[in-house]
Order: sequence, then C-alpha cells, then structure tokens
Amino acid sequence: MSVDLYFAAPLIVNDVSANVREAIRAKVWAYLESEKGKRDVVPAPEESVTTSYYSREASILVDAKLDELEAIVLATAKSYLEKTLKLPPRHIEVEQAFINVFEPGAMENQHTHDGSLLSCAYYVEAPEDCGCIGFPDPIAARRSYREFTQTTGTELMTRPDIAVAPQPGRFVMFESWMPHYIQCNKSDKVRISIAINLRGIPEEAQASPTGGDELPARATDSGEENTAAESAVSKAASLEGKPFLFNDLFAINPNFGVIQEPIHDEIPMLVIEDLLKHPEEVRDVVGRMPATNWKHEQGGRNFIDYYDCRLRLPVRYPNSLIAVAQQAIQKVYGIATRPADASVDVNWFMQINEKRADFAVPHADMTEQSMRSLTCVLYLNRLEECSGGTAFFRFKQSNSLLMDEAYARAGNEDPKIGETGLDYWPEATTDEWERVGAVDMMPGRMLIFPSQYFHSAYHPENSFHDFPRMTLAFWMLG
Ligand SMILES: [Fe+2]
Ligand SMILES: [Fe+2]
Repeated sequence: MSVDLYFAAPLIVNDVSANVREAIRAKVWAYLESEKGKRDVVPAPEESVTTSYYSREASILVDAKLDELEAIVLATAKSYLEKTLKLPPRHIEVEQAFINVFEPGAMENQHTHDGSLLSCAYYVEAPEDCGCIGFPDPIAARRSYREFTQTTGTELMTRPDIAVAPQPGRFVMFESWMPHYIQCNKSDKVRISIAINLRGIPEEAQASPTGGDELPARATDSGEENTAAESAVSKAASLEGKPFLFNDLFAINPNFGVIQEPIHDEIPMLVIEDLLKHPEEVRDVVGRMPATNWKHEQGGRNFIDYYDCRLRLPVRYPNSLIAVAQQAIQKVYGIATRPADASVDVNWFMQINEKRADFAVPHADMTEQSMRSLTCVLYLNRLEECSGGTAFFRFKQSNSLLMDEAYARAGNEDPKIGETGLDYWPEATTDEWERVGAVDMMPGRMLIFPSQYFHSAYHPENSFHDFPRMTLAFWMLG
C-alpha cells in the first residue's frame, strides 16, 4: 500500500545566516528612521498595520538597499519552482515589496496575494508573542467536511490550519493564492516584516531582440558613470570563459576602510572592509573558473566528503590587491614587504556530505621560520553566502597562539596534529585546540595577519553545499 500526499501546499520556512540578518536589520532601521521611511510607511486605512504598501513609488528592497534579501528570495523562489514544484526554469522578478510594522496590538485579517506567483514574508523584528503567520487549510470543501465529520486533528493530514512562528532572519515563502492572516502582536515591542511578491516570466517569452544575455539592470542611485573598463568587467561576468584584466576585475573600491583590532588582545589583525569595487562580478567570474584539486592524497577524503580545490592566478605588476596589502602593512606594521609568490590563490571549498560544523585543520602558514610572513585572505562570497570565516587557535599543549617548538615536536610524534591532507576536518579538535576568536566572512573583506598564528577556515553551519566557499589568499614577506 502506498499513500501519496496529493493536493499539497508547499511552504518554505528558511532562516538566513546571522551576518545577513544583522546587515538587513541595520539597513531596515536606518530606512525607517530616514525621511523617506517616515513619509512612505503609513497606517493602513482599514487595518492596524503600518505599511509602505500604499506608497506606490516605494519599494523597500530598493529604498533600504536590501540587495542580499532580494538575492536570497529570488534564489529560494527558483528552488521552490524548479526543485519542489518541478517546473521548467523561468525568469523570476520582484513585482512588489513593502514593509509592515505591527505595533503592539496590531494584527492583519485573512487575505491572499492573488495575481502574483509566489509571496514571501521576511521577519526583521519578531519579539516573543508578536503573532504567528497563520494558514488555514486552503481546501474549503475539506475544511467543512472535517468540521461536519469531526475528523479534525493535529497531524499533517487532518490539521485545520498551521501557524509559523516568526523569528528575526526567518522567511516564509508560499504560493500567492494561499490565504493567510497575522495573529495579534501581544508583545510590547514592534514586529517588523517585509512582504515580497514575485512574478515569473517563462524563459521562451523572455527572448528579446536585444539578446538573451542581459538581466534587468538594477536601479542604483550612485549616479556613477560606467567606464569602458567597468562595462568590460560586467560583460566578462555575463559570459562564460571570457578573459579579464586582473586589475579591472579586482579593481579597488576607493572608499575601503581599515580596522585594526587584535583578536583575543594578542593576535595582531588588520581588516580591510569593502576592498572590491565589483564584488558581485568577482564572485561571478571566479565562481565560473574551474578549480583543480588541492591536497588530494591517496586514501584521503577530498572529492569524497568535500572538494578542496585551488585556482592559481598569475601576478603581473602593478597588481591592485598586492599594492593595497603592501601599503597597509607598511602603514600599520611599519615593514616593507614583497609577495612570496608570483601568483595569488583562490581556495575553493565545497561540502559533498554533511560534516561537523566547526573548523578545518588549524595550522600556521610559515614554511621558513626565519622570514617574516603575513597572510592576506580576501573573502569572495556574496553576503547571502557568507557564514563563518577565519578562526584563530591556541595549541593547548604549549598554550601558544603561534607556531613553536612544542607544536613541531607534537607534529613529529603525531602527524594528525598538523595538516596531513587526508581530511579537511581535524581529527584532534577540542583536545588539542582552543578557538580564541574569529573574523567573520564578509564580501570584499580582507584580513592580514602574521602567518605564524594558528588559524583555519571555520564553518559554524554546514553552509557550503550548493555553492563554494571562495577566498583569495597570498603571502607577503618582510
Ligand atoms: Fe500577506
Ligand atoms: Fe592558512
């Protein structure tokens, strides 16, 4: 006997990573406190919610610059349609996006988002008891039958409705016809959600005389003019296997910021924020480059549990990234440096199987101890792909944060303490290593630290399944 769930109503509930959640929250509050926000977010005429829904020109995604949320929602919608509903690919775009502020006591009656394809509610603020989003069983005939026959229950097949509890960073996606309502905000704080309606255009219908390789341009308010180099970059990003000029693709954002904050008060750390002028293009172009295996040892787990690959890009001078690192090191550490190699490496990592959510094998990057070396790591992932970062460690046996004789000795006695190349995840973890701090992954963020400090990639979530973790690394010698 088999039982199939016909007439299902799929509902996606997803939580974005903490980095993305906080970035969105900061931008939404800045928007709500701006003149534009105060003008556009107004009380609804017949409901208790305050919303930008009635301000026709307003779009919360553009006004609050929520590019990361838009990208996550569009990617989820694609997966909903193609993987869950098994429909052929189509172009999906945002039809309308608005913000809803539920003051204490506010609620919203049952409604649908008819006319759209998919709808989504993302929660920016969701204090306890702020009200769930409720979905009654959309099959009215079944609902009245269950009442009449008293066969209503609490299980998947018999429940009369479901309620999803909001929490900050969570979003709920459903087909736009599905009736839903918002329970009363019984907390004493505001509940803030962003509603997004999506529409779809079948791919055949999209073919236009201008060619199929362009996506709708996003409106920006930067007023920047497109130089020939920039358009060459975006052109390169839209095609496969197109050559690029290193300094054009990795152009430096003139407004990058430098932060010096030691980790654990002891590890000197130089962090450069927003280093890249075109972080999205860099992500796209590098993401399309095939990377080859790295540390593929006989009997190892690479290409079984995970892919650990490398992509080596030759360096010609002047090189935009090396020049920035050189200047920053000179300024902060007061030492003149030169690159260790005539290349920079992209570390390309992806999980095949679910693994422990912690960190890779801690190590130091030094090979010749006599030389002063600084490790430079640039994160290449998009904001919505970011999770974890680079962690720093204390080797418990010698209580040391940096490579010392005790570590070398221990490594000789037990090779599994160091990097054997057999497994990305260390066999010895909390027995040998204490994590003392970390730098979070952020797009275009570069960190520079003395290479002798113990460090590794860290993965608090099993996040790199559907896309690679990509960092660009190079070493500077003093
Ligand atoms: Fe709604
Ligand atoms: Fe390293």
